[in-house]
Amino acid sequence: VTEVHEIVLQKVGHVPVAKGDFMKMPKSVRIFVSHCIQLMKPRGVYICDGSEAEAQEIIHKLEERGTLTRLTKYKNSYLCRTDPEDVARVESKTFICTPDKYETVPHVREGVAGILGHWMGPDQMQVELNDRFPGCMAGRMMYVIPFSMGPIGSPLSKIGVQVTDSNYVLLCMRLMTRISPKVWEVLGDKEFVKCIHSVGCPRPVQRVVKNHWPCNPENVLIAHFPHERKIKSYGSGYGGNSLLGKKCFALRIASVIARDEGWMAEHMLISGITPPNGEEMFITAAFPSACGKTNLAMTTPTLPGYKVQVVGDDIAWMRFNKKGELRAINPEAGFFGVAPGTNMQTNPNAMMSFQENSIFTNVAETADGGYYWEGLEDEVPKGMAIKTWLNETRALGQPGPPASHPNARFTCPASQCPIIHPRWEDPEGVPVSAIIFGGRRPKGVPLVFEAKSWEHGVMIGACVKSEATAAAEFKGKKIMHDPMAMRPFMGYNFGHYLQHWLDMPKVPGRKLPKIFHVNWFRTDESGKFLWPGFGENIRVIDWILRRCKGEDIAVESPIGFIPKPGSINMEGLGKINEKELFSMPKHYWLDDTRESRRFLEDQVGVDTPPIIFKLLEDQEAAFVAM
Ligand code: GDP
Ligand code: PGA
Ligand code: MN
Ligand code: MN
Repeated sequence: VTEVHEIVLQKVGHVPVAKGDFMKMPKSVRIFVSHCIQLMKPRGVYICDGSEAEAQEIIHKLEERGTLTRLTKYKNSYLCRTDPEDVARVESKTFICTPDKYETVPHVREGVAGILGHWMGPDQMQVELNDRFPGCMAGRMMYVIPFSMGPIGSPLSKIGVQVTDSNYVLLCMRLMTRISPKVWEVLGDKEFVKCIHSVGCPRPVQRVVKNHWPCNPENVLIAHFPHERKIKSYGSGYGGNSLLGKKCFALRIASVIARDEGWMAEHMLISGITPPNGEEMFITAAFPSACGKTNLAMTTPTLPGYKVQVVGDDIAWMRFNKKGELRAINPEAGFFGVAPGTNMQTNPNAMMSFQENSIFTNVAETADGGYYWEGLEDEVPKGMAIKTWLNETRALGQPGPPASHPNARFTCPASQCPIIHPRWEDPEGVPVSAIIFGGRRPKGVPLVFEAKSWEHGVMIGACVKSEATAAAEFKGKKIMHDPMAMRPFMGYNFGHYLQHWLDMPKVPGRKLPKIFHVNWFRTDESGKFLWPGFGENIRVIDWILRRCKGEDIAVESPIGFIPKPGSINMEGLGKINEKELFSMPKHYWLDDTRESRRFLEDQVGVDTPPIIFKLLEDQEAAFVAM
């Protein structure tokens, strides 16, 4: 009798359960999933277990349909081309919804459009959602994904459940998060983050589907409800918009949880650096998207005797432990890295991480079943036929538009990185000695400087700017403010967030990391980089670590401590224009300091902690006196 019972297909309402056991999910999840079914009307429900067999079944389907192309040169690796209109995060259509507007966004100056988060009232958002979600999964399968951000069961980890109608999203979530039925056990009746994602293309489709990549670019909407711990994402399949564990959960929702619980959710890499003396130290670094986190996280140091091991390349969850040490975990399980520019010279460790079990999005394909993108010119033979991300064929070496999209990405398991840190899944996290900010600053900003205090470091973070990159929808190379590298990822009022940082030292006994700012991207008049970057960045990191140990190798300047002449090891580097690389032009900095103050007055207004303005005034006065 039981056997007969088991082969009868489960149903939720009228919708069949294609895989998995609905009743094995915790009650709160069953209620959530039932609600999703009622709302979005999928043709079936597929409860994922994260297994390899499951992945192979989905991959097979996607290959047949043409969404994925197997890259035969590598084991179990695939190329995917998106609809060319769905290639990046869409900041302008990303909202946070709270009843009180000013919980989410600062008081901006009248007539100024706020850029530090977009708020929409819950009622108005409901109208927008009602226009999109009812019936949006018609004719499609709804995948239910139980996942953990951070090692399953770690006290620092958090659980989410994502429903999605995109099997590409499911495959990427398998790489980027930890999907497992164990999540149901750990979850029990505790809280989870509710993640709802739809490509917004119910069947029969209303819009021509390009590249077998259903999406709905005109109607993209990514809504966050921090109080309800809920995310609703519609219309895009691109990573930052659709892999909801990443930016939506691990940064926007988590920053709110962190505010409430007294910790920090940051857009930061985490790495362990061992100098020749063997004393390892950990750094975290916040650079805006496509400004070098993945590269620095797993850099191959050019200085002999140094070792770098990566814990995370994009997101850090950090909290002070009982001993007062700041401990960081990487909530993710994979790397979602910028492909163009990645090669055996710049980042061999990334290259080695994606030789199998990986997904490549919007790169080109070579005739021999490999990947290709800008930056691989020296690693793929000239004359090789390629098919670009836009499906155009040409031979390498022939002129033509870019072979890959500038925001093309590789997605691979972090565990495959040859220098993954043995403690990368340590449930206690690793101790942080230095926090580094940075961005693409072609002019004026020296290679490295050190904050004069924790508060000064927070001010430096609040003034982070960078040239726009292809990771978001912005066009051109304008310099944009990206405070703390969190502009696109803030989950609550940026002024309150700065205060949260400033409050960190208020608990007695806390050992505060030192804070630094770096700039790998300063250029000369001809636009050439003044600093070789990549593996050579270890020279700057070495200076930073020595400062953390209190070495007398810095002098004070208006912007912070800068290296004493000769204190950064430049041995074997060839010709470097140190004068220009470290210069701090008075008029540039006067303008920049005033511009930063104006930015905070405009964008954060009365919510700006006064100490930040005080420090900017001091800086301005110091330059005036120079
Ligand atoms: P992320 O998005 O912050 O993780 O940035 P990535 O590490 O993926 O780098 C983004 C782009 O910046 C890639 O094209 C890299 O090749 C380039 N890049 C990274 N580090 C450096 C560096 O030190 N110097 C220069 N010039 N370019 C870099
Ligand atoms: P990254 O992350 O560019 O910081 O690697 C992805 C993103 O910000 O969309
Ligand atoms: Mn990022
Ligand atoms: Mn990255």
